[in-house]
Amino acid sequence: MIFSRIAGTGSYLPPRVVTNDELARRLETSDEWIRERTGIRQRHVADESQASSELALEASRRALDAAGMKAADIDLIIVATSTPDYIFPSTACLLQAKLGVKGGAAFDVQAVCSGFIYGLATADAFIRAGTHKRALVIGAEVFSRILDWNDRATAVLFGDGAGAVVLAAAGQPGVHASVLHADGSQVGILSVPGNVSGGRIVGSPFLQMQGKEVFKLAVKVLDESAREVAAAAGMKIEEVDWLIPHQANVRILEATAKRMGLPRERLVVTVDHHANTSAASVPLALDEYVRAGKIKAGHKVMLQGVGGGFTWGASLVTM
Ligand code: ACO
Repeated sequence: MIFSRIAGTGSYLPPRVVTNDELARRLETSDEWIRERTGIRQRHVADESQASSELALEASRRALDAAGMKAADIDLIIVATSTPDYIFPSTACLLQAKLGVKGGAAFDVQAVCSGFIYGLATADAFIRAGTHKRALVIGAEVFSRILDWNDRATAVLFGDGAGAVVLAAAGQPGVHASVLHADGSQVGILSVPGNVSGGRIVGSPFLQMQGKEVFKLAVKVLDESAREVAAAAGMKIEEVDWLIPHQANVRILEATAKRMGLPRERLVVTVDHHANTSAASVPLALDEYVRAGKIKAGHKVMLQGVGGGFTWGASLVTM
């Protein structure tokens, strides 16, 4: 039987750091308000010249290095992003060209903050089916481009960045199970309801959110998907060494760990210094903890996404 396994992780954060105090100089907000409500103290913001494919390129190179592989070894590239470089072609195709390879499959998935989990589950299914052997799965975002920087309710929450994993065919799992869900009737609570038509922006190009509704739904579905994926993997929640929920808000993360009965020490938190990087948040957090020597080979890690759509999902992996 063929399984897939994470062979290497990588990430990239653009160098410019924007602190809460810097935001408070131009918005009616404060470091205290932002920290208290969200746990966020800073975010990275990409330079205008850096598109999602460039952040993805750096993260991919680092993941390939960690896996001891070359871009030419990869036969599948999946980029999860809601902030693609172009309407088309896909950011995955642009990344493939930047990696200097061709011929393998390359496409984007669009599931907002759940995008990385959707991408990982898709790559796992391709590898299990035997059609592909080594995949790059990347979450890459420049949410700074779709924020209204005059809207204090949303501008303080997000950051830019990219995280990547190399997923390779293996005799043992690796990815034990994944679950994916969506509820399109919740489209109104979190969206960028705009498009380009006839050379004009139709609708709004900025992120809109009903924060309280998102908060409640996120806590509920993170709890449900954790139990569902553990059952699908035939594991008990207590066996999980590390929980990496989508990094949206430290209060959502802590509420999730508490509902699952997992101690705080097993909860991965990077939202304080990355803010919410949407599809990039889970692989960024994973790579940071792997490189810090906290997440080690053999550890069981639960990865969870939740975001606009509404979409949500989880994967349980042994590193
Ligand atoms: N600074 C100061 N005051 C603010 C700010 C700010 N940055 N933003 C909002 N406020 C004000 C509001 O205007 C409101 O003022 P009012 O009472 O005079 O009207 C007051 O603070 C309370 O606003 P609420 O929206 O009720 O605040 P709440 O406690 O719900 O916190 C927050 C808002 C942090 C957005 C919270 O709802 C939340 O975290 N929701 C989850 C949203 C999230 O994480 N989204 C990320 C994308 S979704 C995802 O990734 C799954």
